[in-house]
This record gives sequence, structure tokens and C-alpha cells, in this order.
Amino acid sequence: MEERARTTRKAPGFKLRDVEAVPYSQIEPQDDVRIASGVTEFDRVLGGGIVPGTLVLIGGDPGIGKSTLLLQVADKLGGNENPVLYVSGEESERQIKLRGERLDIHAGNLYILPETNLENIFHEVDRLAPGAIIIDSIQTVFSALIESAPGSVSQVREVAHQFLMLAKNRTIPVFLIGHITKDGSIAGPKTLEHIVDTVLYFEGERHHNHRIVRATKNRFGAANEVGVFEMTGTGLMPVANPSKMFLQERPQNVAGSVVTACMEGTRPLLVEIQALVSGTKYGTGRRMTQGVDQNRVALLIAMLEKRAGLQLIGEDVFVNIAGGLAVDEPAVDLGVVAAIASSFKNAPIDPHTAVFGEIGLTGEVRGTMQPAVRAREAQALGFQRIVMPASNADGLERLLGMRVVGVGSVDEAIAELF
Ligand code: TYD
Ligand code: MG
Repeated sequence: MEERARTTRKAPGFKLRDVEAVPYSQIEPQDDVRIASGVTEFDRVLGGGIVPGTLVLIGGDPGIGKSTLLLQVADKLGGNENPVLYVSGEESERQIKLRGERLDIHAGNLYILPETNLENIFHEVDRLAPGAIIIDSIQTVFSALIESAPGSVSQVREVAHQFLMLAKNRTIPVFLIGHITKDGSIAGPKTLEHIVDTVLYFEGERHHNHRIVRATKNRFGAANEVGVFEMTGTGLMPVANPSKMFLQERPQNVAGSVVTACMEGTRPLLVEIQALVSGTKYGTGRRMTQGVDQNRVALLIAMLEKRAGLQLIGEDVFVNIAGGLAVDEPAVDLGVVAAIASSFKNAPIDPHTAVFGEIGLTGEVRGTMQPAVRAREAQALGFQRIVMPASNADGLERLLGMRVVGVGSVDEAIAELF
């Protein structure tokens, strides 16, 4: 009986070590100490600076700007007292210098190590005692203690784990660059995401000048926070007013375009939604989207047919967020619906009007979080009227000094906009 009640188990060759749980109440609270990298949008996406002792994964397509961004961050950090170690398994120090020249890098305390062997890297870390480490890229680093090939799942996992321990033991930030696309399928063990504290992804395409870096996971900040940069001839420049940038090329008084206010992390962002509705050649219309969820759009189209009487069955419908941003919050519903209705009716929406609101299956417009923040951003960018959920609209007009039209249903919204 005695034996059965005990939870201690013994495995051959395993030696028990004394461990003891600590009462929660006796744990000292820690101040949220963060290091500012000085690259403003990078600090923002991390939740307000770099937390010492964290392991950060930076993923994105090849050529999107990962090495550029991290070399810029390394330069800023290398202006501090502690050395910064940039380990590159992909480029020689000459190549890095070449990039650095473009970026006007001159930190006295930045060290470059072209190396792929984990044990060698750790050896150098012991000698240099850096205050921050950048690994470019995690896929190129391998441990000689593991048999499988560099870049294989078990190598990448083990290497990442070793860097996690290193970050915690030395209380320094470690940045891992990874060739990982969003779906994680290309080169990427998605399992890495579970090991690291923070995951940043470069979103969007290389064809635009701007780059969006999104925190898809962050143990020390808001998930979904975005940093916006512009790729210039001299590196990535933080964009101070992203809403303005996203609306720069907006056509005015053209059917099928509307501006919506969304929240990306803690920041409001105005984006243009475009829709193109045109008669299909194939019987039932196709529904194609970029930047918004295709299923969500299909559902909104069905709702428009049923509740607002728009005959969209025989129409191809294309919906696109201008500028390559991906938005996945329901508050863009009203914008999607307005853009589709505008294109279908061939009737432009007043360019000084912005919209937002979630839409339910019965065509009701539902409240969203942070309505005032969204409306204020629209006002700040010169919009004169905002069409938004009635349940959110109370008192906003007086607060903001702009026209605030609260709507309870899609019908009301359409009546207001056209
Ligand atoms: P890079 O940082 O090497 O991408 P990654 O590490 O994600 O593969 O960026 C490469 C691209 O960025 C390349 O096409 C050239 C461009 N670029 C600029 O436009 N301006 C610059 O100052 C730098 C350094 C690169
Ligand atoms: Mg690179």
C-alpha cells in the first residue's frame, strides 16, 4: 500500500536531485527592464524595447530584410558598453561589411563571427561576453554533438534550445533569424515557435517599399503588434505615421475603395480596402481575397445577398487590402461590405469618410474594441465623417468634433454611404 501512494519514480541510471518549490508570495517582483535598441519601430513591435534574457525569432521570406534590420539593431546596441556579437553562417565578414557600408554602420563594439558550429560559437561567447547576440540564421548553425544534418528539425530545435539556455543564463537577448514563411512549411520547423519567447514575422511582399514586422507571439508584450519600416537605399527606416503611408496612393472618388480603421496590436491603423465586382464568365462567381480571410468575405457576400438584396451570385468578387497588409480582425467587416457594395453599385464613397464595425449573420453591425482610438486616428488624418457601430458611437461626436454616424445594420450603413 505504502509503495503505491508515492509519486516518486525511479529510472535506472537517474539520480534524484533536491528541488524545492517556492511559495508564489515570496517571489520578488521584477521591474520591467528593457533596453531600447533605438530603432523605434523595432522597439515598438517588441512591446517597448528589448527584454534582457529573451530569445527572439525573426522569420520571413528570403530577401525581405531580416539581415538588414538586425544589423541595424546590432549597430545601435553596439554603441553601448557591452559588445554585440553578430554570428553569420550565410555571409562572410566582407559581405556583411558591404551591407554595413550601405547602412552607415560604425558601432565600435560590434563583432562579426562567420561560423556555423554551435560549440565554436559558444566558445567565442564565453571569451567575448557579449551583451546581445544575433544568429543569422538558425538553420545554418549545427551542433557537432548531434548526428543529423545542419538545418534538420532535430538540429534546429536543439540549437534553439541551447540559445534559450544561453539567453536565460547570461540574461542577454538572443535574436535568431530564421528562414520561415508564415505557414512554416518551407524550411521551418514551426516547433521553434514554442521554444522562443517572441516571434516576429516580416509580413507582406518584397515588391512594396514598406516592410511590416508583426509579433505573432510575445511573452513580454502585446501579440499582433506591428512595426512598419520603409526599405530605402540606406536600410530600413521606421515609418512614424503608418496610416498616412498606407493611404498615400489611395484613389479618390473611385468606386470600390473605402478606408477602414483597424487595430494592429495597440496601434490604430487606417487602411484602404478595395473591391472589384464584375460579371463572371463561369456561372457562379469566384471570390478572391488578399489581406483578408477568404471565408469571411464569402460569408459577408452571402449576408449582403440575403439582407441587403445585392445580387452577387453571378459576380466575381475580388477584395484586397492596399499595401500588402494582412488584417484579421472582424472590425474590417463593414469596410469589406462597403467596398463590395460600392463596386457593385459603381458608386464611389465619399473620400473623407472612414468606416469600421463587425457584421453579424443577420446583417447587424456589432461593436468593436477601442472605438474611440480608431475614430481619433481617422480624425487625425483629416477624415470628416466616420460610419461605425451605433453601440460604440455614444458621445464620440462631441469628444472628437467630427461627424460620427452610428449604424445598427448593414442596410443603415449602405443608406448612409450611398
Ligand atoms: P536582406 O536583409 O539581405 O534580406 P534577408 O536577410 O531577409 O534575406 O535584404 C536584402 C534586400 O534588401 C536586397 O534585395 C537589397 C535590399 N536592400 C535595400 O534595398 N537597401 C539596403 O540598404 C540594403 C542593405 C538592402
Ligand atoms: Mg539574410
